[in-house]
Amino acid sequence: MIRIICVCGARPNFMKIAPLMKAFKKKGNFDILLVHTGQHYDEKMSKLFFEELEISKPDINLEVGSGSHAVQTAEIMKRFEPVVLDFKPDYVLVVGDVNSTIACGLVAVKLDVKLIHVEAGLRSFDRSMPEEINRVLTDAISDLLFVTEQSGIDNLKNEGINSDKVHFVGNVMIDTLLASRQKSEKSKILEELNLRKRGYVVITLHRPSNVDNLENLSKIISAFEVIEKDLKLVFPIHPRTRKNIEGTELEKRMKAMTNLILLEPVGYLDFLRLTANAAMVMTDSGGIQEETTILQIPCMTLRESTERPVTITQGTNRLVHIDTQDILRYYTQLKACGFRTEGKVPRFWDGKAAQRIVSIIGSL
Ligand code: UD1
Ligand code: UDP
Repeated sequence: MIRIICVCGARPNFMKIAPLMKAFKKKGNFDILLVHTGQHYDEKMSKLFFEELEISKPDINLEVGSGSHAVQTAEIMKRFEPVVLDFKPDYVLVVGDVNSTIACGLVAVKLDVKLIHVEAGLRSFDRSMPEEINRVLTDAISDLLFVTEQSGIDNLKNEGINSDKVHFVGNVMIDTLLASRQKSEKSKILEELNLRKRGYVVITLHRPSNVDNLENLSKIISAFEVIEKDLKLVFPIHPRTRKNIEGTELEKRMKAMTNLILLEPVGYLDFLRLTANAAMVMTDSGGIQEETTILQIPCMTLRESTERPVTITQGTNRLVHIDTQDILRYYTQLKACGFRTEGKVPRFWDGKAAQRIVSIIGSL
């Protein structure tokens, strides 16, 4: 039996861990302990995904909750260390680029346990993003690095990481999307919100550079105020963003928009049905850039950089500056072509990434 602790903590981790848990179970010769750090804890940011994606209940929840970067990271490390000492795994597996990823990675390597990083090699080259620090550091200490796109291979090579440790396997987040497509068709979200297919825009925003900086958020909201004259805007709001706008002028402006539907975060299946039928998506999310590429829906990424360049070179994604006029210029272009986009499916984004990862780990 190969003993592995799989770690998850924040919303985008759950879509990535789900197909891995299934693939480990199917293969059979693995003893898996699933640890949830508790970085995200609201029902709609965590529990809902375990139910919808049929992930078994975490064996352990460290219940760290929110805090500053230092507090959160340190607290995860303190609580994770005894778990590793007790379970004595052959490997710790972490996904993505959140604080839970680097915190648990550091604990593993300091206890001389081999570290596996799924979604390695992505780089935005913007070190003001907390995730970029997490990515670079996690990759530097990992023993096995599983990569989603060619840029990841190139970045790791440039950083001097031995190519023997690196495997191009595809995208586990897309495994989940493809496995959930049919099920998401049963979601009633369009009917409940009275939305016409292609008659609305889906919005998500949670990057500190957009939502902690209210000047930037105001520029984005100014664009929404124009776009809502044409199309409904559906905005499942991230708790960070909701908390930041509470009681501000921006909240008043959002509430004044008659075509803006502000929602709590929605479940994965509802969100998938929403994005799959939208005219376009406006986001600063990492994962949604990838999902819209597969769904062939135009994605306007409200950021200066992306760590997922294949979504631009092959997919349906475009970076747009945080500037009202720039946002509206690209919107007008998309509108003029009826929001039609064409893109290719990136290599290995075929629903079999988790299977590849598990066979590689099993063959070591
Ligand atoms: C985190 C990740 C980010 C990822 C995002 C996905 C880091 C550094 N950031 O950002 O990479 O894209 O998750 O959603 O790891 N909150 C709640 N309820 C929750 C969770 C959070 O109210 O269940 C609020 C708290 O006020 C908290 C704030 O949101 O302080 C931010 O949460 P945190 O996990 O620190 O960062 P995210 O912005 O969610
Ligand atoms: N998502 C969801 N409900 C929402 C918003 C997003 O299920 O209300 C899903 C989305 O489909 C994707 C993941 O959450 O699978 C992306 O997470 P997030 O944007 O929080 O993090 P990031 O990818 O930016 O790290």
